[in-house]
Amino acid sequence: MGTDAVILVGGMGTRLRPLTLSAPKPMLPTAGVPFLTHLIARIRDAGVRHIVLGTSYQADVFASYFGDGSDFGVEMEYVVEAEPLGTGGGIRNVADRLRGDTVLIFNGDVLSGVDLRALLATHDSTGADVTLYLTKVADPRAFGCVPTDADGWVTAFLEKDPHPISDQINAGTYVFDRAVIDSIPSGRAVSVERETFPGLLRAGARIAGHVDATYWRDLGRPSDFVAGSADLVQGFAPSPALPGPVGSALLLPGAEVDPSAVVSGGTTVGARASVGAGAVVEGSVLFDGATVRAGAVVRRSVIGFGTVVGEGAVLEDAVVGDRAHIGRGVELLAGARVWPDVVVPDGAIRFSSDL
Ligand code: GDD
Ligand code: MG
Repeated sequence: MGTDAVILVGGMGTRLRPLTLSAPKPMLPTAGVPFLTHLIARIRDAGVRHIVLGTSYQADVFASYFGDGSDFGVEMEYVVEAEPLGTGGGIRNVADRLRGDTVLIFNGDVLSGVDLRALLATHDSTGADVTLYLTKVADPRAFGCVPTDADGWVTAFLEKDPHPISDQINAGTYVFDRAVIDSIPSGRAVSVERETFPGLLRAGARIAGHVDATYWRDLGRPSDFVAGSADLVQGFAPSPALPGPVGSALLLPGAEVDPSAVVSGGTTVGARASVGAGAVVEGSVLFDGATVRAGAVVRRSVIGFGTVVGEGAVLEDAVVGDRAHIGRGVELLAGARVWPDVVVPDGAIRFSSDL
């Protein structure tokens, strides 16, 4: 029987504030399109056409953009959690929409190059109840640590362990047998990572690991969000949905870049956004209608919708909300965040904190 896809998109995107005040994390423009567009295109290309979104925070935004999915070559359905049910609760909550025996489940904020057909093939050939896509990272503490034995079977699931026993982590994509989904309790919040996976292991369920070393990044933090967008633009992260040729920058319709400006490192310049004379924009995301004035320097930063960066301002690793105004010569460094509509007056002031 067929395979359904479920994408969990109910999180509040707290770590990406203030960007996620105006849009849920999976809908933030990433290499020119809402992030989910890349994931949906990869799911479609793997031959899976029925996609159910498990939504909660800003639930309406998804359906108004993707509709019934036909413009994207898929069939989309939406299920809303009035109160967030957690990752496991979100999966259980879409059970009545599922049609097949096998379900591909995605965290909605992971950019990856894994071959989804190969992941499904691992599930088939091992006869596992659940198969987890696993990858290796330098610092596993922010993720689910998932060790496997010599035959590839998962031996433990340790979510956000401060002292991980392995550098192998849950990459945030699962294959479930339909029957396992029905065993998750309904009507209450459940964490698939903290409750369902450890419980399944205790009960003797067979959970297989599918280890893959191609591109992987969770876009939940600002530094990863900008880096992921830049990797898509430069073709380091694969996507069938990139709205332009792979290159050192992506300019959306109506973007204007002065010939003396340098825009590079996978920067996206949004629709009707502009970059002035002599400005440098590197590895950044300029949302639609953003303005970077002459001589400004913007590195690894996100500039919100309609926001202005004044002449000679320097932004590094900064996140600036929508419609803000950064004065001339202001320096915003090291993870500074500016809330929407804030006006930062002219001056060579250094900020690395919230404004
Ligand atoms: N429907 C629904 N309801 N979705 C939710 C809820 C909820 O209550 N809570 C979170 N989600 C969605 C988020 O929108 C996101 O797409 C996904 O579930 C994962 O949540 P994150 O908040 O991004 O989790 P994380 O990044 O800290 O950790 C998870 O992902 C890592 C890999 O990227 C865990 O699954 C880790 O084990 C994993 O290593
Ligand atoms: Mg995440």
